Amino acid sequence: MSFKKKINQIIRVDLAGEKGAIEIYKGQLAVIKDKTLSNEIKIMLKKEEEHCEKFTKLLVQYKVRPTILDPVWKVGAFGLGMFSAALGKKATMACTEAVEEVIIDHYEKQSKYLEGKDDALSKVTKKFASDEKEHMHIAKDMGTGSDLLHQTLKSGIKLISKIAIKVSERV
Ligand SMILES: [Fe+2]
Ligand SMILES: [Fe+2]
Repeated sequence: MSFKKKINQIIRVDLAGEKGAIEIYKGQLAVIKDKTLSNEIKIMLKKEEEHCEKFTKLLVQYKVRPTILDPVWKVGAFGLGMFSAALGKKATMACTEAVEEVIIDHYEKQSKYLEGKDDALSKVTKKFASDEKEHMHIAKDMGTGSDLLHQTLKSGIKLISKIAIKVSERV
């Protein structure tokens, strides 16, 4: 694959991911009544909006076509947010933990790949990986459950996130 094609994939999938993260949090906020919990989520949401803004700029700068699946991800992510929040506080945070775990790994791999090839973009992905790490720790600190239900939920959400990444890279 050409380098430009790889860069296109990186920017396309990252923007889609950040948009997805925003929708997950919005979906959760639509359901959650607990003030402490919703305040934490609002802080994370703000960060995702910054991330999204950055990748929107990069999309224009690098002349990348966004994924055609944006509307699908939008509905799916919002639904996932609502679903997790409806299951309770631990499930809400389990969703964040699972998504962030996948995204951290994803950003770190990109950052490594980009080193020496596109250092500016490598730095962005590295910085975002560390932001997402913070979110994962917030979730873990708040409690994400270790019983079967929450473990299953986490594995399921991780799998969905990985599939969404694979698909968004391509279309
Ligand atoms: Fe993000
Ligand atoms: Fe995040």
